[in-house]
Amino acid sequence: MKLWITFNITMGLIMGVFHQAGIVPLVSNFSGEKFPVHIWWKTYSPPTWMYSNSNLTVSTTNFEKNVERIDKIPWNVVSDHVVDLKGSDFELLNNTLTNFSKYTTSIQLIMPNTVVKRIDPLRSHWNFVKDWETSKHLDLDHIDIPDWDTIKPGLAMYNVSLIT
Ligand SMILES: *[C@@H]1O[C@H](CO)[C@@H](O)[C@H](O)[C@H]1NC(C)=O
Repeated sequence: MKLWITFNITMGLIMGVFHQAGIVPLVSNFSGEKFPVHIWWKTYSPPTWMYSNSNLTVSTTNFEKNVERIDKIPWNVVSDHVVDLKGSDFELLNNTLTNFSKYTTSIQLIMPNTVVKRIDPLRSHWNFVKDWETSKHLDLDHIDIPDWDTIKPGLAMYNVSLIT
């Protein structure tokens, strides 16, 4: 009984309270506000209704022959645009940044702290400046022990710009 209660309280806190929890305060910051391009990477699909934005554009990846692609993203929409890149690899992220950068200099990337290292290959090309962060976020979807960074809590938003 004690074990059952302990297990359920622990799992209730982890899965019910902290798992992916940072998404809610992040989107709340923009509720009813104008925002530029928001690229969500390696998170759950953001609850776009929470933006309370009647002008919202939401786009995501598509699949062709089991290959994930970014054919359906309207690059010229550079305000109030949520792009859900889901779990795609960093090449797609890089291509997404490249395409948007032809139209705007205001690009914001939202990703969990667990995957921060994965953008290292992009740092020679892009500047990532942290703009907002919460520690109350457990990713749990990218755990890769013994790389302890992959269990690091936190969700952050970065302003991304091209290094010229
Ligand atoms: C990212 O895309 C740029 C083009 O904007 C390219 O020059 C660069 O090599 C790419 N970086 C990686 C790591 O693929």
